[in-house]
Amino acid sequence: MGHLWLVGMMGSGKTTVGALTAGLLSLPFVDTDARIAERSGRSVKEIFEDGEIVFRRIESQILAEVALERPSVIATGGGAVLSAENVVLMRASGMIVLLEVDAGTIAERVKLDAERPLLVSGEGIVEVLEERRELYRAVADWILSSVGRTPEEVAKEVAACVDT
Ligand code: S3P
Repeated sequence: MGHLWLVGMMGSGKTTVGALTAGLLSLPFVDTDARIAERSGRSVKEIFEDGEIVFRRIESQILAEVALERPSVIATGGGAVLSAENVVLMRASGMIVLLEVDAGTIAERVKLDAERPLLVSGEGIVEVLEERRELYRAVADWILSSVGRTPEEVAKEVAACVDT
């Protein structure tokens, strides 16, 4: 099998669910935001201060690097699908699972997190979700909701996508 790419908005649970899914499937887990921070020695927020475009360039490099590694469960950043090249790469190297979430739930989950640049820089969750909703759906092989369910429950469903 190839990779299992998790996409979706910030606060959709990609990192938590991804780590649990990797455990269930005995696969390595990669969080691209964490890899970006580790590689550049700066937080995602700090990189964003140089401009979103700077962050997006590094993000694409890291995605390309991870795509070449052995099959893994990969939690991507919420904006990874904005680049068509990123999507082609994800498609070509595995399956894409979307964790869907509504704006209220995102707000609840990320409201105290000053490390979330897109929210800090002012664009509202509702607007970002509106802009991206169809894109997320269009790229996904599987669409699962993470609302009102525990990460363990969602991870089981994600893992089940692999055998189906
Ligand atoms: C972003 C989401 C973040 C991070 C960056 C940009 C976005 O990742 O990559 O702040 O554009 O939605 P999470 O989805 O893991 O919060």
